[in-house]
Amino acid sequence: MLDRPLTPPDAPTLDERALARALSGAHFIDGAFVPAGSGRSFAVHNPATGEEIGRAADGDGTDVATAVESAATAQRAWAKLPARKRGALVAKCGALISAHAEELARLIALETGKALRTESRVEANVVADIFEFFGGLGSELKGESVPFAPDTLSVTVREPLGVVGAIIPWNVPMLLMALKIAPALVAGNTVVVKSAEEAPLAVLRVCELMNRVLPPGTFNMLSGFGPECGAPLVAHPKVRKVTFTGSVEVGRIVYQTAAAKIIPVTLELGGKSPMIVFADCDFEKTVMGAITSMRFTRQGQSCTAASRIYVERPIFDRFVAALAAKVDAMVMGDPLDEKTDIGTIISAGQFEKVRGFIEEGRATKGATALACSRLPEDAALRKGLFIQPHIFTGLPDDSRLVREEIFGPVTTVFPFDDAESVLAAANDSEYGLAASVWTNDLKRGLSLAHRIEAGLVQINQNLVVQANLSYGGVKSSGLGKEASLEAMLEHFTHKKTIMVNYG
Ligand code: NAI
Ligand code: MG
Repeated sequence: MLDRPLTPPDAPTLDERALARALSGAHFIDGAFVPAGSGRSFAVHNPATGEEIGRAADGDGTDVATAVESAATAQRAWAKLPARKRGALVAKCGALISAHAEELARLIALETGKALRTESRVEANVVADIFEFFGGLGSELKGESVPFAPDTLSVTVREPLGVVGAIIPWNVPMLLMALKIAPALVAGNTVVVKSAEEAPLAVLRVCELMNRVLPPGTFNMLSGFGPECGAPLVAHPKVRKVTFTGSVEVGRIVYQTAAAKIIPVTLELGGKSPMIVFADCDFEKTVMGAITSMRFTRQGQSCTAASRIYVERPIFDRFVAALAAKVDAMVMGDPLDEKTDIGTIISAGQFEKVRGFIEEGRATKGATALACSRLPEDAALRKGLFIQPHIFTGLPDDSRLVREEIFGPVTTVFPFDDAESVLAAANDSEYGLAASVWTNDLKRGLSLAHRIEAGLVQINQNLVVQANLSYGGVKSSGLGKEASLEAMLEHFTHKKTIMVNYG
């Protein structure tokens, strides 16, 4: 058991276990690793084996207060730096992250159970890209001149909001942190992040890398549980903006606390994303597209997972069979093994939740479940949180599997007969995050794209979050955008009007 922080190595390391131990037991506050004020810590597990790989500081309101004070002090000097200089420093963080990408990929694979080759490396590289992208946007923090009256000059200027509180989940923790921290910093804010209790270590290494470039206090990271550490962060009077990714349930709590303080929030709360497949699609490409859209390689633990797939009736049977065959050929196993396509579920709690959905689906009259791929046989992985990918057909519209976010490797497939009925089905959801349409008739694809209720619609592809493309949902999927210039300007600055009368 490790309660005291050690020093992680400067150079990139491929020993993810030693790195996990070296990052154990600490928050990152004011440019240094510090243990929780209470002295408490909690275990971090490798979900592929169940073993304890490290510990995380168990943060509470006292730690929140220390971190927010540090951020508030640092913000005054940080906001005075020229915006391009701030951007250059953030871009430099991106270069450092890039140099450590393989190490971060291995660490995140160990900590979250996401397969190294198919998922974890992708995440580490996108993180570097996000920092580099926002790092280039310092000079875009522009205002306007406003025509008002003779002999007056009216302008708007973009100002930072102050200290930003960022709360992140465990599915792509480094990426989701980057989407918040990079634009917030470039815009002149400072940040306190609350990491997810299941994945607090890789994000801590990112902090330590950033600390080699940025002044102490500009960003701080706390680990801890939601009610004990996340809630006091949202409630702290000096936190002037909150950006949250996670469940709808917690999103509502965050929004209520923010309402009482009258501060802006960005909420990214998940989805139940439809994928619409017409018979004239490029069949093979679309079957592969369903696998990437559903994020089967991430065990479906994605807010944009295509968990409702609608297939035009003439190709329905062939499509389901082809999809099941492809998923069946995927390899489940040790996340760090290069052969592995699919790793594990993050935690025992999520494991039980997903299994509950699968059992309910199997017990539903008229439904058929196709369980694909094989659980690993390796003795070392006996306690691993592996779940076979499941493809369900024949579920009624009101099934919980069709209505609720499962956040596991479970998709539901339905036949449809015409564009109007599939549009109605696609929009019949409390969520509105992402959607995709697969057809060679672009006129039809575009017409649907305009009418689907979602923040992001892709035709004939379903890429993950990309720098420069606004990302964020409508309906219960959330509020506000991430990943773009627009996101930085609208969500991390406010516009001040200044008027000069020179008459
Ligand atoms: P969660 O919403 O409980 O946790 C997300 C973050 O919020 C964590 O850092 C957690 O510590 C924090 N948190 C929890 N309670 C809080 C509170 N009262 N005040 C402030 N912060 C708080 O999500 P959880 O329990 O990990 O997963 C449950 C479900 O949420 C998943 O099955 C999935 O459906 C959804 N989810 C959606 C994500 C997305 O990307 N939109 C990511 C993770 C989960
Ligand atoms: Mg929760």
